[in-house]
Amino acid sequence: MLVTLEGIDGSGKTTVWEALRADREEGYTFTHEPTDSWYGKAVRRSEAADDANPLAELFLFTADHADHLSSVVEPALDCGDVVVSDRYSDSRYAYQGVALEGEVPRPMEYVRGIHQPWTRPPDVTLYFDVDPETGAARAGATNKFEQAEFLRDVRTNYEQLIEYTPERFVRIDASQSPEAVLDDAESVLDRVLSDA
Ligand code: TYD
Repeated sequence: MLVTLEGIDGSGKTTVWEALRADREEGYTFTHEPTDSWYGKAVRRSEAADDANPLAELFLFTADHADHLSSVVEPALDCGDVVVSDRYSDSRYAYQGVALEGEVPRPMEYVRGIHQPWTRPPDVTLYFDVDPETGAARAGATNKFEQAEFLRDVRTNYEQLIEYTPERFVRIDASQSPEAVLDDAESVLDRVLSDA
């Protein structure tokens, strides 16, 4: 089973991912995008550059995903592990769907289209929902992706993705205290694994 954690910057999902990882060992693979591979390093370099070409950046993120899928996610799933990924394809649909506005028509559909023939969709996605002002404040607004205005549009894209496949998403109220958010995430994960 492939479980992904998604949400805007500052939604607290990485803290949850770290806590889940500390609790669960045997039978789990915890991973994330961007990855720590050289593809992921190229992505982080682009992220830090305010003048990065958004189309070039999309393909760096997508290259990182292709490598992540074949070298980490698919082998772990083949071994029967539960894979828990902090960010995955939906991050590209939501974020690059905003970053590519004005570059290509219907950007989110374009980004989904280039993944569709080869990606492996998640079975369950925990969506950490928080308003963009809180997200930007928590994230520190240190790069171009962490500005409240940008995050507002990213959140709109996430809402659109949830409308497309509501059965895949579980919404978690990420405006709660970190302890309450973690409690919710733990119980959702336990429930989906026992239903599987
Ligand atoms: P994030 O999970 O916040 O990593 P970290 O906190 O370790 O830097 O992801 C980094 C940023 O990259 C975040 O602002 C979201 C953005 N991002 C995309 O724009 N597209 C993607 O496909 C992914 C995976 C991330």
